[in-house]
Amino acid sequence: MKVANKKKLLTMTFSLFIFLVITILYPFLRFKLSSPSNNTTIDFPKIVGHRGAAGLAPENTLASFKRALDLKVDYIELDLHVSADGELIVIHDSNVKRTTDGEGEIADMTLQQIKQLDAGSWFGPEFGSEKVPTFEEVLDLVNGQCKILVELKWSKKGAYPSLVDKLLQLIQDRGVSDQLIIQSFERSYLEEITTSNNPVEIQQLIFGKSSILPIYFDTQLRFGSFEPVAGITSLNMFYLYLNKGWVNTNEQLGFGTGVFTINDENDMKKAATFGADLIITDFPDKAIKILR
Ligand code: G3P
Ligand code: CA
Repeated sequence: MKVANKKKLLTMTFSLFIFLVITILYPFLRFKLSSPSNNTTIDFPKIVGHRGAAGLAPENTLASFKRALDLKVDYIELDLHVSADGELIVIHDSNVKRTTDGEGEIADMTLQQIKQLDAGSWFGPEFGSEKVPTFEEVLDLVNGQCKILVELKWSKKGAYPSLVDKLLQLIQDRGVSDQLIIQSFERSYLEEITTSNNPVEIQQLIFGKSSILPIYFDTQLRFGSFEPVAGITSLNMFYLYLNKGWVNTNEQLGFGTGVFTINDENDMKKAATFGADLIITDFPDKAIKILR
């Protein structure tokens, strides 16, 4: 390789390294190295069981939601997809491979095919009878005992064209708008809900934002300044990007701050003293022990 080309490659590698340090490592280190704020008047955050209680039972199954309900969480969180025959399905990935004994994309499978799958044995043999639930089954189980933070996901091909319509119709049919909060990284879903004038609460997800460069991450890395969707009640972000500046800015803009997915007790305490309003965790048992 020519000396000039070598120099060019070195400069590019170094610039990439600096870019990564500034955008990713700096906020992470800032959170990890900071001490809990000595703010003595913290409002205790709401505790949200992530995918039910994903650290204690197979995620997004009725067993996981029951576990979270038994622990008396404030909200349970779940993820929503649409099957080939138009059913609202509760599962995290667009593909069933990681959390069941089957294979395939939810968007290509019928409810009947999805219901054949074992969604619990991968977590432990005692969960072998768990199935992938429909959203209606979760609504029946929760039955108003706590709010449900519903995350709208997308398929391999992108946002589901019918997801918002189907969900809003179901909310209206069952009269449950006050029992749900809808969140997504995908702003088109949230904007569709806002323009539908439906009274359901919405929250926006963002992975994080650089406090130095005009860069943020939601469904992908984006350049420019982050604009929240109008009408959200909370901006929910990856916890390592949390700092007091974010919480204050969000407060000034009129909404709260949530953090996901925070499983370490010290990190939970830190986030609470920084003013986080929602702690989304796989271990609601730990959060309850230290934050209630
Ligand atoms: O509730 C927010 C959090 O669930 C977002 O990330 O990947 O766990 O759905 P993910
Ligand atoms: Ca989620």
